[in-house]
Amino acid sequence: MLVLAAITLLLAGLPAVWAALLVDLDSASSLKTASRQLAYDLMTYYKGNQSGQTPGILPGPPPVGEYYWWEGGALWGTMIEYWMYTGDASYVPVTTEAMLFQTGAPQHAYMPPNWTASLGNDDQGFWGMSAMLAAEVNYPNPPADQPQWLELAQAVFNTQASPERHDTTCGGGLRWQIPLANIGYDYKNSIANGIFFNLGARLARYTGNSTYSDWAVKTWDWVAGVGLMDKDMNVYDGAHVTDNCTDIQKAQFSYNAAVFMQGAAFMYNITTGAERKQWHDRLDRLVNRTIEHFFETGPIIELACERPDKILCKTDMLSFKGYAHRWMASTAQLAAFTRPTIMATLKRSAAMAVKSCAGGHNGRQCGFRWTTGGYDGQTGAGEEMSALAAVMTLLLEHESIRGPVTHKDGGTSKGDPDAGGDPNPFPVAKPMTTGDRVGAWILTVLVLGLFMSLLVWISTEAGENGRTAYGSAVPAPARKRNLFKGRIPAVVVSQFSGK
Ligand SMILES: *[C@@H]1O[C@H](CO)[C@@H](O)[C@H](O)[C@H]1NC(C)=O
Ligand SMILES: *[C@@H]1O[C@H](CO)[C@@H](O)[C@H](O)[C@H]1NC(C)=O
Ligand SMILES: *[C@@H]1O[C@H](CO)[C@@H](O)[C@H](O)[C@H]1NC(C)=O
Ligand SMILES: *[C@@H]1O[C@H](CO)[C@@H](O)[C@H](O)[C@H]1NC(C)=O
Ligand SMILES: *[C@@H]1O[C@H](CO)[C@@H](O)[C@H](O)[C@H]1NC(C)=O
Ligand SMILES: *[C@@H]1O[C@H](CO)[C@@H](O)[C@H](O)[C@H]1NC(C)=O
Repeated sequence: MLVLAAITLLLAGLPAVWAALLVDLDSASSLKTASRQLAYDLMTYYKGNQSGQTPGILPGPPPVGEYYWWEGGALWGTMIEYWMYTGDASYVPVTTEAMLFQTGAPQHAYMPPNWTASLGNDDQGFWGMSAMLAAEVNYPNPPADQPQWLELAQAVFNTQASPERHDTTCGGGLRWQIPLANIGYDYKNSIANGIFFNLGARLARYTGNSTYSDWAVKTWDWVAGVGLMDKDMNVYDGAHVTDNCTDIQKAQFSYNAAVFMQGAAFMYNITTGAERKQWHDRLDRLVNRTIEHFFETGPIIELACERPDKILCKTDMLSFKGYAHRWMASTAQLAAFTRPTIMATLKRSAAMAVKSCAGGHNGRQCGFRWTTGGYDGQTGAGEEMSALAAVMTLLLEHESIRGPVTHKDGGTSKGDPDAGGDPNPFPVAKPMTTGDRVGAWILTVLVLGLFMSLLVWISTEAGENGRTAYGSAVPAPARKRNLFKGRIPAVVVSQFSGK
């Protein structure tokens, strides 16, 4: 009897600690329980609400920690959607604090001086999309004396729509980086332009203001015209202004396809007649091509860096699968005709994703590869965020999850069409002053620092940390160039911002 009781106690204690994630994908309550566990595990990577830490960000940016600033924005988008799908409000306070802490006063356009060194249009845009999402799902509004969700999304959009961000190289489009001094300023890429397109389509739907959709159309046309998206709806990574964007870097990442897909679904949703027919056609082909390319065997594969023999994905890329799942589910909500195909695809992928959640310190940490039917030992915020996205989005088939609201049908977020302020508030862009001479000196130090890190990189090949690494299939010169799209250590450039 005593032995039996002891064994029972032991068994009762064990599963909570060691059990792999168990989910019945056909049960709403099981999906919710699993989502709650995944959200909990994901949030253990967040330290920003601990004393002495910076609210809003995941540990980083390198070399301080693994994660760049933008991934915090992506985390909060995931947590806002977690609230939408499950109704679990546990993380609303921490999410709201984070989203408001990083807005960057006084402009509140998600360009806080601390992160200038890694501030791309896409980085800023990820935070903007999370603010937009908060407006669309009627997330609890911030206190009245704080910037509001819609206003924040408009601020991001307005700074990106300003003439300063749209020079004539390559016939238009946004550059990757915002400050002239950043490595990657000479690159125009799909994610920066895709997010701008996506935000434009969404702001148009929420506000009914066609200025936003005009920009969305213009951006899509530019992306297609320059060849970043080809006729078969492959979405490539980017190209350099020095080559007038003819040197298309052909790596395909799932978030690039998905960000255009979701935006196209919004455009389809708000248009009529011939215009709608055109967006229907584009969206149909983009959905099909994306599924064909990334979901060929069932689970999503981040093909550009997830190789059969090794993972070449950088930290950034380890989180892309989650955005693909989330934005495809959103597409299914906005364009009913895509729903059966998309949801069947996401379910097949999620079935494999959950099998990867069987390792790490608590026995249910999720891995990166979803093809093996097990845990691959690769754990992090990106992997956890992706698995959460895969599981929670399936609730779309079980619960009545409301599609994105607008000003006309219940949206309560206050906007400001003029939000945003100076699109380029960076010291280096201003006329020469004494301070700038100090800046120039710092630039020298910076260039020297880069040169040193190049040396380190040459000897170790460990220096690559750009989002857009093209992997080993790319010949050596391109990989070397890729180094220069890596990030400048924040410690150095914070001196620019500080003056
Ligand atoms: C930080 O947030 C997490 C998740 O909401 C919570 O569990 C934890 O108690 C918070 N910590 C502090 C110090 O507020
Ligand atoms: C900027 O960095 C300083 C110093 O680390 C920190 O105190 C502050 O909270 C940071 N602000 C933001 C918006 O991250
Ligand atoms: C540069 O690219 C744009 C967009 O493709 C094109 O319209 C323009 O003619 C090109 N300029 C030159 C000088 O080739
Ligand atoms: C896309 O896929 C759907 C579902 O498989 C199919 O009905 C449709 O014809 C396809 N569209 C194109 C343009 O191939
Ligand atoms: C547009 O989106 C709404 C909200 O999700 C949805 O109810 C509606 O069916 C969509 N329209 C079309 C034509 O798919
Ligand atoms: C529409 O948006 C544009 C761009 O932000 C703004 O300038 C304009 O005032 C807006 N129009 C209305 C009617 O709100």
